[in-house]
Amino acid sequence: MTVTPPPSAPIPVVINGATGKMGRETVKAVAQAEGLDLIAVLARNPDHIGQDIGEVIGCGPLEIPITNDLEGTLAFAAQEKQIPVMVDFTHPDAVYHNVRSAIAYGVRPVVGTTGLSPQQLQDLAEFADKASVGCLVIPNFSIGVVLMQQAAIQASRFYNHVEIIELHHNHKADAPSGTAVQTAQLLGELGQTYNPPAVQETEKMAGARGAAAAEGIRIHSVRLPGLIAHQEILFGAPGELYTIRHDTSDRGCYMPGVVLAVRKVLELKSLVYGLDKIL
Ligand SMILES: NC(=O)c1ccc[n+]([C@@H]2O[C@H](COP(=O)([O-])OP(=O)(O)OC[C@H]3O[C@@H](n4cnc5c(N)ncnc54)[C@H](OP(=O)(O)O)[C@@H]3O)[C@@H](O)[C@H]2O)c1
Repeated sequence: MTVTPPPSAPIPVVINGATGKMGRETVKAVAQAEGLDLIAVLARNPDHIGQDIGEVIGCGPLEIPITNDLEGTLAFAAQEKQIPVMVDFTHPDAVYHNVRSAIAYGVRPVVGTTGLSPQQLQDLAEFADKASVGCLVIPNFSIGVVLMQQAAIQASRFYNHVEIIELHHNHKADAPSGTAVQTAQLLGELGQTYNPPAVQETEKMAGARGAAAAEGIRIHSVRLPGLIAHQEILFGAPGELYTIRHDTSDRGCYMPGVVLAVRKVLELKSLVYGLDKIL
């Protein structure tokens, strides 16, 4: 007779930045996902503290009060029988402290917030490593973005002129986007230098040629109301232009990646960067 193993206990999940644009989607996704248990939510606005997150975001009561007490929440989560996970969709100014605190409590961070500097990322990687605590930093949770980056890696075998344009809503705090930086890094790691100069260039207005990212790749950032998150990678060669474009029309597109990351981070013992590493 075969014995069916009992379903493993649900993963306790804390969401930081739960009232924000990404946080709201994440609350709904985690509340509905099989095997995940939303245990606490954090936000900042004093008007929201103590209110039920489900009522605030309009998805019906969830009986989880919003708090701004990070340390208390992490200590509470750390007492769960199962290893807890903290999803962070807050702000570039707060994310480093949030993630370091989570690791210190043994709570596994899944970091969607962008804007961590290379130095902060390295520091968090060393801290996670020492603590043997898994941590996922994912500048973009959309599967389409992973496919776009893979297409760009293919294209880079044939083109050595490339520029990136990223376009976002005007409430985005950091520029360039984490996705654009990651895309440039991925292309930069392939062992070639891009955009050999054709002429001696003069930038008559600072920033006109965009930000200089990895290996000569330029990133141009557009911020406008009406946009959500969009990116174009343009490869140029004499007589042709190859453009790869990804458009986000609904933040729900990020949620399968977020739920996957919450499950996968429990298998890790160090910091891993990028959705492509866990697909
Ligand atoms: N990885 C991805 O796929 C992906 C996709 C989209 C966006 N993002 C990134 O996710 C982050 C959040 O984006 P969003 O559009 O959801 O932002 P948002 O709408 O401004 O929401 C931010 C949330 O974080 C809280 N918050 C803001 N500043 C804070 C601080 N200093 N300390 C603690 N909490 C703070 C806000 O609380 P109050 O409202 O109470 O102040 C709110 O709940 C950004 O870095 C963005 O670039 C990542």
